[in-house]
Amino acid sequence: MTEPASYAPATIAVSAGRPPRSPDGPMNPPIVMASTYHAGGEVGYGRYGNPTWEMLESAVSALEGGVATSFASGMAAVTAVIDLVPVGGVVVASPAAYYGTLAMLVRLEETGRLRVRRVELTDRDATTEALQGADLCWVETPTNPMLRRVDLDDLGTRTAQAGVMLVVDNTFATPILQRPLQSGADVVVHSATKYLSGHSDLLLGVAVAADADIAERLVGHRSTQGAVPGTIEAWLALRGLRTLQLRVERAQANAAELARRLGRHEAVAQVHYPDLGAMVSVVLHGDAAAADRVTGSTELWVHATSLGGVESSLERRRRWPGENTEVPETLLRLSVGIEDVEDLWADLEAALEHVGG
Ligand SMILES: Cc1ncc(COP(=O)(O)O)c(C=O)c1O
Repeated sequence: MTEPASYAPATIAVSAGRPPRSPDGPMNPPIVMASTYHAGGEVGYGRYGNPTWEMLESAVSALEGGVATSFASGMAAVTAVIDLVPVGGVVVASPAAYYGTLAMLVRLEETGRLRVRRVELTDRDATTEALQGADLCWVETPTNPMLRRVDLDDLGTRTAQAGVMLVVDNTFATPILQRPLQSGADVVVHSATKYLSGHSDLLLGVAVAADADIAERLVGHRSTQGAVPGTIEAWLALRGLRTLQLRVERAQANAAELARRLGRHEAVAQVHYPDLGAMVSVVLHGDAAAADRVTGSTELWVHATSLGGVESSLERRRRWPGENTEVPETLLRLSVGIEDVEDLWADLEAALEHVGG
């Protein structure tokens, strides 16, 4: 594991991934648009590397304390990491994870590529049993969309004892709030589409490995499978990363306040807020139609999927046919942004009037 840089995360986010200082050298990395390079160097071709990706990767490496490889999307990063599992190997995963990841595991299971043991990773005894003889453990914390927390230090100890590779999808918490490599994770994955870039204007993924060997295998996967990031996307993600700390702090403060107020609202049956990050889930009274009336009547909150942008958005998760059926029909997942909290509350409160019809 690379030692984290001695600067605090806010400083790393601003200062890492910049070109070397030289008189009249640019302060920001150039956007290098090239499919090929003059022969004789280490990169050679655009699928094997790009100086703009490298700048983003060095910043994320410093933030997470590992070695980062960027990909075309979060799912491309997930795919590369799952490909570390040997053929016929066993993946331990919670049913409370991003459903795209779960759907991919199902497909790979159906084709005989690997086997999946599904276990609630908040259950320590069941987890210990499931880890026996497994190859990789996949965890998201807070979980999606119930926002439960998994004790990463404890899971890191258990996976190490069992000789199982631990992978943490850190998309929801970000390295500002949680650094899983320090808890013993072997790889951290991000949908950088979300908080890392922060403006809902690109798709990008990153996998950060604790050691150089794993990182090399991830680069090898990217080079051969070809899910490379767009250069402009990588540049924009780095630009977004500069304000990560400010965005996360503000969004988290808004989320905590809204969770408190929602907990007292008569239309709300339950609030799930883990005191970590800016995602809040609320279970409304009434039925799916009532919840749909709420998402259909906000003016400021955007009715959309995804998360982690500067703008606040919300959606009823069960509108997606692939969502876990244990998720209540009236659960709304809120991605709280950085707007003024009173404006957010006024809009939400007005929309909640529609629960009653
Ligand atoms: C937690 C999590 N991981 C991975 C992904 C996949 O990322 P992408 O959409 O960038 O491919 C998502 C997307 O919503 C996500 O929420």
